[in-house]
Amino acid sequence: MVSLKGQTAVVTGTSSGIGRAIALELAKAGVELYLVGRNRARLEPVALAAQELGAEAVCQVLDLTDDAPVRGFAAALAGSFDILVHSAGVIALAPLSQAALADFDSQYRVNLRAPFLLTQALLPAIKEARGQIVFINSGAGLRANAGWGHYAATKHGLKALADSLREEVSPDGVRVLSVFPGRTASPMQEAVHRTEGRTYQPERLVQPVDVAEQVVAALRLPRRAGVTDLSIRPGTL
Ligand SMILES: NC(=O)c1ccc[n+]([C@@H]2O[C@H](COP(=O)([O-])OP(=O)(O)OC[C@H]3O[C@@H](n4cnc5c(N)ncnc54)[C@H](OP(=O)(O)O)[C@@H]3O)[C@@H](O)[C@H]2O)c1
Repeated sequence: MVSLKGQTAVVTGTSSGIGRAIALELAKAGVELYLVGRNRARLEPVALAAQELGAEAVCQVLDLTDDAPVRGFAAALAGSFDILVHSAGVIALAPLSQAALADFDSQYRVNLRAPFLLTQALLPAIKEARGQIVFINSGAGLRANAGWGHYAATKHGLKALADSLREEVSPDGVRVLSVFPGRTASPMQEAVHRTEGRTYQPERLVQPVDVAEQVVAALRLPRRAGVTDLSIRPGTL
């Protein structure tokens, strides 16, 4: 396994769930972090936890649907950095016959358009470092069940973006990983259970740390190999 110590990462969605767990796993590996989210009060405890693990962590308050601040953040980073993890995401469930167009728009903007814009803005710096990009996708990015259409469409789009980008940047030494988690214990999954009228039993689901450990293991693979797609499903408890 390759050491990530001293590398720099931007992680979105770090105030909660999977993004938070990935940030802390990277902190354990000695990576310096930019923690992206909309709310400083939700980011600061994560920064503190990362610092307690020995990592430098900077909170970056950013709504990823606002283009100018996203571009400004990327410009301010300048130089090179090593790892970009897209974990920010939103979900709304409804059959197409009842779905609100506004929900389709908001999922498109956060789940697909924002990773497109942020990747584009940071790509020169990532290429400079021969770095790595991780897209937290979803099982819904591979299979669209009834009632999941507009969320699944954004995640299918995200898979396409990652697949195409991988071919574009692998000659530059940049690795691209798509992660397809199944139901993972987080505030998002709790909301999904509420919508579906199911009892939320987080202990029976994938834990954010399970996803985070696999992501960091993939990032630490020697460059002679590369994980392109990673599916993680709830096991059989
Ligand atoms: N949990 C699951 O079962 C599951 C399964 C498959 C895939 N996923 C995917 O995994 C990723 C993480 O999900 P999660 O379960 O960890 O969700 P979560 O706990 O609800 O966290 C979502 C994160 O996204 C951030 N976010 C949302 N809108 C944003 C915006 N406009 N600008 C910046 N940040 C924004 C939130 O930050 P603030 O609200 O603090 O700004 C929060 O940190 C998502 O892409 C999701 O689609 C989740």
